[in-house]
Amino acid sequence: MPTHVDVDAFLTATLVGDDPMLDAALRAQHDAGLPAIEVAPVNGKFLHLLARIAGARRVLEIGTLGGYSTIWFARAVGPAGRVVTIEAEPANAEIARANLERAGVGDRVEVRIGSGADVLPTLAGGEAFDLVFIDADKESNPLYLDWAARLGRRGTVVVLDNVVRGGEVADADTPDSKVQGARRGVEMLGADPRFDATALQTLDRKGWDGIALAIVVGTATS
Ligand code: DHB
Ligand code: MG
Repeated sequence: MPTHVDVDAFLTATLVGDDPMLDAALRAQHDAGLPAIEVAPVNGKFLHLLARIAGARRVLEIGTLGGYSTIWFARAVGPAGRVVTIEAEPANAEIARANLERAGVGDRVEVRIGSGADVLPTLAGGEAFDLVFIDADKESNPLYLDWAARLGRRGTVVVLDNVVRGGEVADADTPDSKVQGARRGVEMLGADPRFDATALQTLDRKGWDGIALAIVVGTATS
């Protein structure tokens, strides 16, 4: 009986295929000792397609890691588009920069080094982002969602990664701060009038997890 890993392999081979630049990015990230917590290829392409469907020209990513999902977004926005990606760990940002240059999209990506809490306020007053992908320290999900609404506009797409965490999100009493962050993020999406949202459970080579998908319907903070 095939497993979800076999299904992931079939879907990836059939719909994503070989991609030398993405493969090289993963290898460089692995060789540098970064954790293999980037999105699965099928999900990277999902994010890429979502950005294209939204006609996104400006994408904000919170949590760069080695730049794998960043490459997917950079391809989606095209040569005239812009991706701003925030990474707290300078060594990760360096890997990401090299991966982005090798993939030929370095010119359209700005890697900002620092915590989201420090970098996000510096983006205020700029042109609104069309899509925001939140994939960093899970404890800060509510803060990042607040900034997504502030830095977005009506219609901005917001994606929040890792909202299921092997099912743990259903445990209100979990002692795991990352799972609590996932819960708080989903609760905020449900309660905050600036968002209309849903979530999907995912099962791929990374295991059982999920993403929340939201649209900004208002940007007023009160
Ligand atoms: C973790 C973070 C991620 O963004 C992810 O996709 C999987 C795991 C983590 O910190 O455990
Ligand atoms: Mg993630």
